[in-house]
Amino acid sequence: MKEALASASDQLRESSDTARLDAELLLEYVTGTTRLAFITDPDMDLSELQQQQFFAFIKRRQQHEPVAYLTGRREFFGRSFTVSPEVLIPRPDTETIVEEALRIIDSKEVSEVLDLGTGSGCIAVTLAAERPELHVMATDISSEAIAVAKQNAANLQVDDRVNFYCGDWFQVLHPEALFSLIVSNPPYVAAGDPETYAGAVFEPERALYAADGGVAVLEQLLREGIRYLNPGGVLLLEIGHQQGDRLYQFVREAALPYDDVRIITDLAGRERVFSVTRKV
Ligand SMILES: C[S@@+](CC[C@H](N)C(=O)[O-])C[C@H]1O[C@@H](n2cnc3c(N)ncnc32)[C@H](O)[C@@H]1O
Repeated sequence: MKEALASASDQLRESSDTARLDAELLLEYVTGTTRLAFITDPDMDLSELQQQQFFAFIKRRQQHEPVAYLTGRREFFGRSFTVSPEVLIPRPDTETIVEEALRIIDSKEVSEVLDLGTGSGCIAVTLAAERPELHVMATDISSEAIAVAKQNAANLQVDDRVNFYCGDWFQVLHPEALFSLIVSNPPYVAAGDPETYAGAVFEPERALYAADGGVAVLEQLLREGIRYLNPGGVLLLEIGHQQGDRLYQFVREAALPYDDVRIITDLAGRERVFSVTRKV
């Protein structure tokens, strides 16, 4: 096992910044053991079949296929989520919107949240798992994504409190539906811009890209979201690097009845969440 790990890490060195970790995660998946086993028993033998499977995965990883799609799993907010190529791989960046949502849920005693573009369900399911009284409504245009999200809700035992609907942004809602908190991590990468990492070509385009330098959907959600918010209700949107000012200007010029407009940064100090509150 020691030799297989060393050889695989070497083979991945040029294609991945996390060569050793990738190799360990793939070996963990193929052998059904944990990484701890590699440390405590580095001389453990791999069967012929395990060797073949492992190095087949290493080859695919060399072509930049994300580890999460190879193993079908990704950690998010301390929980393991099922993923498939039909859904965006949950990013650590998205933990910022979850933290802010939890803060609002606690301070405003929110009992129901709407998550738009739920993908794997990582935001909706995490919020429900973190707050056992909370009910979440989650939507996505992709029925394949909804199927993955439902599976995650069931695996993490929150399926009795998260309801999923397939459709275009707000169109699946009752016209009089009102929420105190709406969250969304919509597509916000500028169309035509390659995402910053090579594995993005394996992810669904509609999960990543938006028109107008990436802000078209963000602006749409700001414009349409207002009628689904209670007075004093909050809309949280994940945003990309340097999109905050442009959205700030959009809210002002469109005279949308929001106040308390805030840009929240992540731990690395990058703009990550745009927060607006419906005027009372
Ligand atoms: C950036 S991904 C976010 C997925 C997940 N919430 C996360 O944070 O990992 C955006 C999601 O929006 C969905 N989406 C794209 N266009 C949509 C639309 N018109 N209506 C609803 N959802 C849409 C995509 O299918 C994708 O799952």
